[in-house]
Amino acid sequence: MKPETMATPFDLLLHNVRIAACADDTCAVSAPGFVAIREGRIARVGTMDEVAAGTTARAERDGGGALLTPGLIDCHTHLVYAGHRAREFELRLQGASYEAISRAGGGIRATVRETRAADDATLFAQSACRLQSLMRHGVTTVEIKSGYGLSLDAELKCLKVARELGRRFAVDVRTTLLAAHALPPEYDGRPDDYIAEIAQRILPEAVRLGLADAVDAFCETIGFTPAQVRRVFEAARAHGLPVKLHAEQLSNQHGAALAAEFDALSADHLEHVDEAGVAALARAGTVAVLLPGAYYFLRDTTPPPIELFRRHRVPMAIATDCNPGTSPTTHLPLMLNMACTLFRLTPAEALLGATCHAAQALGLQASHGSIEVGKQADLCLWDAEAPAELAYAVGASPLRARLHHGVEQPLQ
Ligand code: NIG
Ligand code: FE
Repeated sequence: MKPETMATPFDLLLHNVRIAACADDTCAVSAPGFVAIREGRIARVGTMDEVAAGTTARAERDGGGALLTPGLIDCHTHLVYAGHRAREFELRLQGASYEAISRAGGGIRATVRETRAADDATLFAQSACRLQSLMRHGVTTVEIKSGYGLSLDAELKCLKVARELGRRFAVDVRTTLLAAHALPPEYDGRPDDYIAEIAQRILPEAVRLGLADAVDAFCETIGFTPAQVRRVFEAARAHGLPVKLHAEQLSNQHGAALAAEFDALSADHLEHVDEAGVAALARAGTVAVLLPGAYYFLRDTTPPPIELFRRHRVPMAIATDCNPGTSPTTHLPLMLNMACTLFRLTPAEALLGATCHAAQALGLQASHGSIEVGKQADLCLWDAEAPAELAYAVGASPLRARLHHGVEQPLQ
């Protein structure tokens, strides 16, 4: 045994696992080996020979030869909201478009009404169900946006619920202020006044209370113009917060270039982005977050330009976009499947998209998203031999164990 391991033993030795580290942009799988954990972090990664030679820890866990990946990261959700929109689903199946429903006062505004009316406990309970479902499918870090409050009090209420979820459950929560999600009814005809309210009151107050890790906006004909988004981004920059953007989901508003100009962590959706937008993302190091659940649920027919992302070396992340209007799902592995079947990603690209690239989309690449010494010990053990099996399974996630900060969590 090496002297340093005798001095400070590992807390846990997870051995007999085949490791897909998801570092260096590859999902290559190792021969059976081990991960040693100390104080919630990965302290050593090695081979079974080293275990045989006497590497020990306070506790040991035999992984049975199963596949070990980083814990999954869902880098784009709107999971704090009240109610549902199943009636709109029926209307869309009868031919109504998402935009038409939105313009008629449904869509995001319908959920805003229910979210504003919900008390904290109700909002927490409904959101917690969705979070627990995400965790059952292997998620160890989740981004949660506000955006169904659209007033100072209601946006803060949603962000507080998101923070509380992070305290109460074994999952890391990153919060994003998305006050520029839709125009609240009290600002009808006065979008610039609402943008001023966000820039001068909502955003500074969210920052003051430590409730937001990033700022997002919906740049679209039914959302906000690039000029309005720019004002929100300038306020974010003034307060030291990184930005993200819902860009080019339904039309090309040149939001990707705007996001890149502000060194955005990510630009999300991107079905209608053009090559100039993709090149701008590449120059800025901005991640393209792809949301196949929304594409599927809206029965969209224009997929994001995957080949352009590959050619320009824009990292691609995959997320659920969990929300009541366009992607009512909490199943991240199913999104990996859809990214492959609908967007033609390879299963390896899909897994990198829910691990290391998702970490990058949250600015967490130094601590999350891969199995490397020094990173947080957030890990998933799967009943699978190859990473491709995670994307292959339609609606089943072969999760055997989930570790958060080095501690195995009950799968519920
Ligand atoms: O990411 N694009 C805007 N926001 C959500 C949809 C929200 C809703 O319809 O409630 C999205 O798809
Ligand atoms: Fe979204």
